[in-house]
Amino acid sequence: MVLKEVIGDETICVVGLGYVGLPTAIAFHSAGFRVIGVDVSERVVEVLNNGESPLIDSSSSLVIPLDSEKWMITDDFQEAIPASDVILITVPTPVNPDNSPNLSYVESAAKSVLKNVDRSKRTAVVLESTVYPGVTRRILGSECERLGLSTEMVTLAYCPERVNPGDFERGIESVSQIVGCDDAELGLHLETLFGKITQEGSTYVGKMEVAEASKLIENVQRDIDIALANELAMVLPRIGVDVEDVLSAAATKWNFHRHTPGIGVGGHCIPVDPYYYIELSENAGFPSMLASSSRKINNSMPINTANEILTILHSKKTPRILILGYSYKANVGDIRETPVEPLASYLKEGGCEVLIHDPLVDSEEIPNWVEVVSEPTKCKDLDLVIMATYHEEYNYSNTRFWKSMFSIMKRAKIYDGRRVLPREDMESSGWVYYGVGAPNK
Ligand SMILES: NC(=O)c1ccc[n+]([C@@H]2O[C@H](COP(=O)([O-])OP(=O)(O)OC[C@H]3O[C@@H](n4cnc5c(N)ncnc54)[C@H](O)[C@@H]3O)[C@@H](O)[C@H]2O)c1
Repeated sequence: MVLKEVIGDETICVVGLGYVGLPTAIAFHSAGFRVIGVDVSERVVEVLNNGESPLIDSSSSLVIPLDSEKWMITDDFQEAIPASDVILITVPTPVNPDNSPNLSYVESAAKSVLKNVDRSKRTAVVLESTVYPGVTRRILGSECERLGLSTEMVTLAYCPERVNPGDFERGIESVSQIVGCDDAELGLHLETLFGKITQEGSTYVGKMEVAEASKLIENVQRDIDIALANELAMVLPRIGVDVEDVLSAAATKWNFHRHTPGIGVGGHCIPVDPYYYIELSENAGFPSMLASSSRKINNSMPINTANEILTILHSKKTPRILILGYSYKANVGDIRETPVEPLASYLKEGGCEVLIHDPLVDSEEIPNWVEVVSEPTKCKDLDLVIMATYHEEYNYSNTRFWKSMFSIMKRAKIYDGRRVLPREDMESSGWVYYGVGAPNK
């Protein structure tokens, strides 16, 4: 038994309207579906009902279909859930201070959704949040059991979101989807449904645990690949070799995965999801060695970078440093797990005066123990500029910006924490260049 015979007739409910949920809701609406968005945050509901986006960065490209009859935003589960056929849960899955998975948002959303389903019809409840294998079955499945919901009333599925925030060229429509569902008929139905919001295709991959594990290892692999680039960035300059030259040389081979070293890994996914895998491996009785080592390497990059910078500036008593960018990645205003925070903290502990500029981050979100600047080209007495997050505003093609930065410094020194600036060009225009993984001249 499928949900509705004609795909497109379903009402889709998206629970959690953040970086993942909101674009997903808009994508289904654009594909012609009736969409109900539910969020527990009064602010999110209010902002969306004013036709604006609550997201800081990509919001500019998101158009909220406020006047559409097929669009509704609410905080009322009782109203939204019975009226929906497919419910997508896209709530946060962070880690606790001890790095153990925090599944409380999933538990809470599962309860709010399942107690309100219409028992007289079949509803598909699809978890999209990143979790480890078994979580959908354990949390949502046991709640179904507790509430006496049969599989004819609620069928569970797992369909991970694989979108890359800040990547404006690869939105939801350009990312392939996978669907895990124990019920193959419904799995294939959902495959077709998700296929409506992407040009890259949708694949039914079998039971939920396959899709859950797939999402997890995609991010574990990225963390491991980045850790290799970061470790090499610490090793190779010690023998006078630039890590970027080596990575570019290796990338001439077809099967080499090219990653760029940096000051650290941030965001909601890459530095978080490996801990879900680590917990899974421990529970399975074979604790991961690889994922733990990668986490250690990537977590050590802010202190490694700070130590390099303190060595460069050792002759200054109180070096004055401007950090460009505070968010965790270029062109997003998201500061979750940003490596710039520990980097700034280590520099401060090392005796530096730290200034931070970020055009996309609200100054209230930047720690009050640094000086937040609104006009980087007007800073005085700087000893070093650190490129931490390569926002468009800092693009090297913005010659006005770079000329102004150069002109305000007595001795213009740059530390390229993302290896995005052209060393030779900068040096020929008078900059003293340092960079992660680059040997000093
Ligand atoms: N951000 C990304 O780029 C990305 C990419 C792929 C996967 N993911 C995964 O997607 C999930 C969501 O991440 P996000 O970045 O969109 O999070 P987010 O913090 O941007 O948004 C989550 C939203 O859920 C709401 N919420 C929290 N609890 C709720 C509840 N019980 N009921 C209804 N709404 C609730 C919050 O108010 C918030 O608006 C996470 O599991 C994350 O790992 C994120």
